[in-house]
Amino acid sequence: MGNTHKPIRIALGSDHAGFELKEWLKTKLLEAGYECHDFGTDSNQSCDYPDFSFAVAQAVVSGQCDTGIVICGTGVGSSIAANKVRGARCALCWNEYTARMARSHNDANILALGARVIGMELAWEIVKVWLETPFSGEERHRRRLEKISALESSDAALQEAKTLC
Ligand code: RB5
Repeated sequence: MGNTHKPIRIALGSDHAGFELKEWLKTKLLEAGYECHDFGTDSNQSCDYPDFSFAVAQAVVSGQCDTGIVICGTGVGSSIAANKVRGARCALCWNEYTARMARSHNDANILALGARVIGMELAWEIVKVWLETPFSGEERHRRRLEKISALESSDAALQEAKTLC
């Protein structure tokens, strides 16, 4: 999310379980002056969360959007899927504290929410914290993020996993 740069363009995506919350958050975000890029779904008909998470993660990693929000029933599947996109740092948050830390310490660029786990008002509080909290930029946090990037850009982790099998 460009560290201290305040997000304006927000990519949104959900499956059927997250549809209602996505629509509600979109209204709140538009009212608050944010630009929303909605990658679906567009109804509560059953669908597959990886499709929408992937689209949101791509929009964020490519720079089309400043940050992303993915929503499914628990937020678990959506976050797993988003994190398969290189450069995505998707954090599943369930209160303001986890959102603040995910931004401040992890410079997370995609927020995952569980629509069947938290209420709408809490979700909005989490989103506001997410959007207003910059990355701290502290050296220890940068170092750790660089280690994650290094893991992502080499196949060292994969090789090690194969050796252990
Ligand atoms: C859909 O029933 C549900 O599995 C999905 O929304 C999500 O919670 C997966 O992690």
